[in-house]
Amino acid sequence: MEKTIGERIVDAMPFLDGASDVVQPKVQELLDAGGATARYILDGVWFEVPLHPVLTDVPIGSWTAAILFDGLDLVSGRTAMRNAADASLAVGVAGGFVAAAVGFSDWRYTSGGSRRMGMAHAILNSAGLALNVTSLLLRASGRRNAGRLAFLAGYSLNGMGAHLGGELSYKYGLRVNRNAFEATGPDDFTPVLDEAELSGEEMRRIEVDGAGVLLSRSEKDGRVCAIAATCNHFSGPLEQGEREGDTVVCPWHKSRFDLCNGKVLNGPAVFPQSGYETRVRDGKIEVRAVDENIQEKVR
Ligand code: FES
Repeated sequence: MEKTIGERIVDAMPFLDGASDVVQPKVQELLDAGGATARYILDGVWFEVPLHPVLTDVPIGSWTAAILFDGLDLVSGRTAMRNAADASLAVGVAGGFVAAAVGFSDWRYTSGGSRRMGMAHAILNSAGLALNVTSLLLRASGRRNAGRLAFLAGYSLNGMGAHLGGELSYKYGLRVNRNAFEATGPDDFTPVLDEAELSGEEMRRIEVDGAGVLLSRSEKDGRVCAIAATCNHFSGPLEQGEREGDTVVCPWHKSRFDLCNGKVLNGPAVFPQSGYETRVRDGKIEVRAVDENIQEKVR
């Protein structure tokens, strides 16, 4: 696949890997020290969506409004416009810090090109944020024109950072539901395995109509359960995970899912696993996709 301009620029800066080697473990340590509640909030588990894209709307919107109000202030000289510009800038700065915390949390799982691009994204946005804080201080000290210039420089850096953030989502699929792009599986019940082949505590990955499906038997009632075998967080192989009761823990970042309904029981994943209906006919386990999963797929 041909590289984007953003990737080519980022790849020409090997120091980004060195910086990531230093910063990534520190971010993980910080989040571990913050406890499960902090991780759940930052990962978006309680909200059932990744939070970074939502939170970045606050600084982007506020700073764009601040640019507008700065322009109106210059043209009209009205105090109301000046105050509105300062207030918008301040709201954006506050939102920027929160978005940065969540962004670092998302970034801690990346590697290779996405980690490099994430570091470039973070450096640009942190520099932009620092310039915007400087702008607030300059404005407060009466040096408004210098403050405006600092803000314009910060806004430009944040714009470049935002572009790389878009590439992280659209090119690398960071925090995207990985199940959405997989095959839906069969529309009708399809035999996939002899029932006798699935023992009590086993988790068995099978492929059917291009979909990877994780089969297991419920410890509670012995029924056959089926969910997508690929973790929707970062595509971890759930069949290699640990089974604990009727749940599976992803081997990569420890998300825990219900083996029978795909529900997220522990993050960092925020989306439930795609589920499948099962039945046993003539000694064979049969599987078919459920309607809601078919509707959620990207076609
Ligand atoms: S790939 Fe990250 S929790 Fe499964």
